[in-house]
Amino acid sequence: MELGNHLNPYSKLQNNIQDKLDDLELNNSEKLELLKQIPSRWEKLGDMLLIPENSFNSEIWIEVLQILDKEIWKIFCEVLGVSKIGRQKKIRSGPMRKSQVELLFGENGVVCHKENTIVFEFDTTKVMFSSGNISERIRMSNFDCSDEIVLDLYAGIGYYTLPLLVHANVKLLHACEMNTDSIGALKRNLHHNGVSEKCIIHEGNNRSILSNPNIIGEVNRVMLGLLPSSRDGWDLAIQALNPKGGILHLHGNSVAKEEEKWAKEVIEELKKISEKLNRNFRFKLDHIEKVKSYAPKINHVVLDIIVFK
Ligand SMILES: C[S@@+](CC[C@H](N)C(=O)[O-])C[C@H]1O[C@@H](n2cnc3c(N)ncnc32)[C@H](O)[C@@H]1O
Repeated sequence: MELGNHLNPYSKLQNNIQDKLDDLELNNSEKLELLKQIPSRWEKLGDMLLIPENSFNSEIWIEVLQILDKEIWKIFCEVLGVSKIGRQKKIRSGPMRKSQVELLFGENGVVCHKENTIVFEFDTTKVMFSSGNISERIRMSNFDCSDEIVLDLYAGIGYYTLPLLVHANVKLLHACEMNTDSIGALKRNLHHNGVSEKCIIHEGNNRSILSNPNIIGEVNRVMLGLLPSSRDGWDLAIQALNPKGGILHLHGNSVAKEEEKWAKEVIEELKKISEKLNRNFRFKLDHIEKVKSYAPKINHVVLDIIVFK
């Protein structure tokens, strides 16, 4: 009976990697140091394992990987049941929020990630996928949007568009997206999940919807899922809502523990925009959802705002 079969995945990784290191001329303290630096946290997206940004970055590991890289990655694949390995990197700043995952093993970074019965296919090296936003994707799934026309101003690969179409019974969704990699993935994902017919994609900058009479004044609910701020889309959202009003799901970053103050400031600003555009809506904060920590003392927050006359 092999002892390895009873170990947890991390101990298995350490054991199997130790066996490989035994083939190299290393002293005991070097081996111990190398083993200590094996990451004990990771994320799985489809059949890809993502290890933290600073993993295997030390001089000693860089030297070992020059000789053993394939063998080491194969151990990760066998122990953790994946076929691709990537290294996390910070999402690029800028409106497209592009991914910078570095592919370490496998032919490409394309994954099919299943969550809450929804298939998300995307290239991890090109577009972001925030596992930390899972609670928000599920929250969107649980809304009842029967008979609603929804506008997603920042659709990406369908982060919120898909939960709304698949689970929330939306009648028609207008999805705006300007990153061509995301648009390709969004089209495939609508198809994979059988909801292409209920979604119209508006390629390019979302400001183009201003000249679209099927959107302006016609929408019941607007998704504003852009970080660090969705401010550029607030006037579009107000113009898109139908004359009776509707609901906004407005994402942004707030100083931790000051979310209510931030919400009040946002609503004041929305009132000003609405008056300026002669829409004269009223706004009521319905709910503050804290999604995740974005940075030290900064939270990713979603405000559910009811808009009415
Ligand atoms: C990646 S998602 C954000 C998902 C998630 N809420 C977050 O920020 O962590 C934002 C998407 O909005 C798109 N985007 C940003 N500004 C845009 C604009 N003016 N018009 C159309 N798409 C835009 C980006 O290309 C990106 O795919």
